Amino acid sequence: MKALLEVLSLEVSYGSRQIIWDFSIDVSAGQISVLLGPNGAGKTTLAKAIAGSLPILSGDVLLDDKSLLKVDPEGRARRGLIHVPQGRRVFADLTVQENLSVARFAAGSRLKEQTLDFVYELFPKLSELGHRHAGSLSGGEQQMLAVGRAIMAEPRVLILDEPSLGLSPLMVESLYGAITKVRSHGVGVLLIEQMVGAALAVADHVTVLQNGRVATHGDAESFRSSKELLNSYLGGGNDK
Ligand SMILES: Nc1ncnc2c1ncn2[C@@H]1O[C@H](COP(=O)(O)OP(=O)(O)O)[C@@H](O)[C@H]1O
Ligand SMILES: [Mg+2]
Repeated sequence: MKALLEVLSLEVSYGSRQIIWDFSIDVSAGQISVLLGPNGAGKTTLAKAIAGSLPILSGDVLLDDKSLLKVDPEGRARRGLIHVPQGRRVFADLTVQENLSVARFAAGSRLKEQTLDFVYELFPKLSELGHRHAGSLSGGEQQMLAVGRAIMAEPRVLILDEPSLGLSPLMVESLYGAITKVRSHGVGVLLIEQMVGAALAVADHVTVLQNGRVATHGDAESFRSSKELLNSYLGGGNDK
């Protein structure tokens, strides 16, 4: 089966400093591709380059076999490539409901009526918090809102940059539960994390980034049986 999103030999630099070399990854419909890598490996740089908010040196990004290189980030989002940046950005002064509605307008005509219901089904907590200002929510609740906003845009491919950062294990479990439900609706997910942690349990494919290059990649199953090997690529502090 052909992948929905294909990233081919991407190279990215900030000025004269190259950060990413020859990076390729596939994201298929209804699958979770997990991208792991230590702090500073270049994960966020890749997420931005794929979403179109950072120029690339060479390589290609294909959605449905069509190159996105000439398409700006808004155009990529309209085609269904939705990026949730690192650091859960929500509109602090708007309510939860307003945050979701704004995302709905950005999605344009592709949006189905049921989408808000689906977001509340994924995150029941958000419906309870509908009238609260986003800025008053906990970190975990804001992350759920950030992902909820992305769902409102009806993603075909969802890029999540370290969604579990700063969340309690319980919140991570709840967030990952929602992500697997999103997968079961046929969305392709590129889940970026620093730790092996919970990501390996939900992964279909795993790619490890080290110093801007792919260190290893393969089916998640093969890594689940050799977690030590995976941890050895990621350095210390990954014994979860
Ligand atoms: N705006 C920027 N300008 C210059 N260098 C940057 C910028 N953002 C990140 N970098 C550098 O690029 C490298 C990769 O960073 P990043 O993509 O944020 O890694 P990760 O998300 O894996 O932690 C780091 O060395 C970082 O210092
Ligand atoms: Mg990052």
